Amino acid sequence: MPRIVFIALIAVVVVVGVIAGRGLLTDDKPPVFIGGPFTLTDHTGKRVTDKDYAGKYMLVYFGYTFCPDVCPTSLSIIGDALGQLDAQQLDNVVPIFITVDPERDTAEMMASYVPNFHDKLVGLTGSLVEVKAVVKAYKAYFAKTGDDGSGTYTVDHSSRTYLMGPDGAYITSFSHATPAAEMAKKLAEIL
Ligand code: NI
Repeated sequence: MPRIVFIALIAVVVVVGVIAGRGLLTDDKPPVFIGGPFTLTDHTGKRVTDKDYAGKYMLVYFGYTFCPDVCPTSLSIIGDALGQLDAQQLDNVVPIFITVDPERDTAEMMASYVPNFHDKLVGLTGSLVEVKAVVKAYKAYFAKTGDDGSGTYTVDHSSRTYLMGPDGAYITSFSHATPAAEMAKKLAEIL
């Protein structure tokens, strides 16, 4: 084997080894990008985008006001957790409830719903296209079930609460079963 080919072969083996080794050492998972730009309507009827909340942390939950069980529980936990923060921490965060049922969740409906959970809770709705876009960006999901045309359908949906940074980047998320005290502790560390 010519010397130059031998050296090239060794070089290839070393490079491949380093790349493979790095992969093993860092246990690389493919990066998952959660979040992104959105345009929606808040519960006061104002058109808003993610830029309106830039500079603040966003605590984002997807659900709908007709939800019989999971949403009220999750939103109560969020409200409780926010209630355990000090004024400065609370000032740093905007809690946001984004509907997955824009058909029934008008801005007016959201306005009558969100104050049940926290004074600061912002309700966001929009067109179905706008809602689908933000749900997709957050890797969340929803699906209408039992729609017989009578308007009494339910909506299956994911139930994670996302904490996004002042730059809009994903920081962490909480399952709907996270106790309020645990969420408050984590929020207090970050905010
Ligand atoms: Ni729900």
